[in-house]
Amino acid sequence: MNHYSQASRLQGVHYDVRGKNMVEAQRMESAGQQILKLNIGNLAPFGFETPESVVRSMIAHLRESEGYSDSRGVYSARTAVANYYQTKGLDVDVDQVLLGNGVSELISIVLQAMLDTDDEVLIPAPDYPLWTAQTTLCGGRAVHYLCDESNGWNPDPHDIESRITERTRAIVLINPNNPTGAVYEAQVVRQVVELARAHGLIVLADEIYEKIIYRGQHTYAAEEAGEDVLCLTFSGLSKAYRACGFRAGWMVVTGPLGKADDLREGIQLLANMRMCANVPAQHAIQTCLGGYQSIDDLVAPGGRFHEQIELAASMLNEIEGVSCVPASGALYLFPRLDPQRFPITDDEDWALGLLKRKKILISHGRGFNWPDPDHFRLVALPEEKMLREALGRIAEYCEETRVG
Ligand SMILES: Cc1ncc(COP(=O)(O)O)c(C=O)c1O
Repeated sequence: MNHYSQASRLQGVHYDVRGKNMVEAQRMESAGQQILKLNIGNLAPFGFETPESVVRSMIAHLRESEGYSDSRGVYSARTAVANYYQTKGLDVDVDQVLLGNGVSELISIVLQAMLDTDDEVLIPAPDYPLWTAQTTLCGGRAVHYLCDESNGWNPDPHDIESRITERTRAIVLINPNNPTGAVYEAQVVRQVVELARAHGLIVLADEIYEKIIYRGQHTYAAEEAGEDVLCLTFSGLSKAYRACGFRAGWMVVTGPLGKADDLREGIQLLANMRMCANVPAQHAIQTCLGGYQSIDDLVAPGGRFHEQIELAASMLNEIEGVSCVPASGALYLFPRLDPQRFPITDDEDWALGLLKRKKILISHGRGFNWPDPDHFRLVALPEEKMLREALGRIAEYCEETRVG
């Protein structure tokens, strides 16, 4: 019998937020059960609509979107991105902008263009797992630096520095952070960038949640990186403009561009090979960045994002043995299950129990490359009534699995 096997380079590549528990949830759904899916940050199913003006600009450009665009992206959209960063005080020209099918595709292109076998990338733990998966897929090594839960999940620059070797190529900063909800203080961003400066590393700044801030202020890594540290900033429409499915994102290169010609040529080659990003969605970028920022209403007190994430954090903290650092940004919480009260050896299994008994799908902490089986991630997207119901069921499950 023939066996068709996957490439060996996929060994060690994990993406558990859509892993075996999600497959089980799909199986349960097809058997007629109703599952509340809180495993990924997909906004549309929870009633968050892409603004009307954004959809309209895609429709208006549909006929002229039939052909491939420039592989870097349509000029007006790239200009809109450049202008946006200029208003933030960053010196960005249109040629420094590359558009992609979401940040995901750009992460993939950049890491492929950058990494040789065994090159190391410093990635936060917990992380948004695409960074680790894609580094591994490219033959690189994901080296995880620990974010400190007792310090608002901020990265510890000393820990980062201790992990730098001669193979280190880049530091990934996810700010605001998925899954912890942390928004890094300017001082922390500065210290991390300083390490990149001292060791000649590239900063890879995933800032897709930059507009989703409840407390504190977002600091652009590119601002700290200035003219002498190469910084690749990633962002897009998925979250702030509730447009996950339209697949629109961008990457902006700043810093010593003259030294980055070769890398940029590699990135361009890979961008050419995938032809172009989804063209109608590119036409929405200008409308998004220039128009009314309805995201500001969602994150302000009284707005759905703000109220839901606050409610979720406080309800989690009421559960015995569970503690949760409130989120300052993004859409997630990463609560801790006290190992004394929850002697869990396999957190994916614990999450499977929650799915089977309470019909709620969450992602287990080790799916975010967190080293211990003592956390999970909650997506705070359901509206208040559903969120209360979900947290009630999570509390019940905690009671059933708690000891002492
Ligand atoms: C930190 C982070 N980066 C990137 C992405 C992917 O975004 P996109 O939809 O633009 O591919 C996500 C999606 O959840 C994310 O949380």
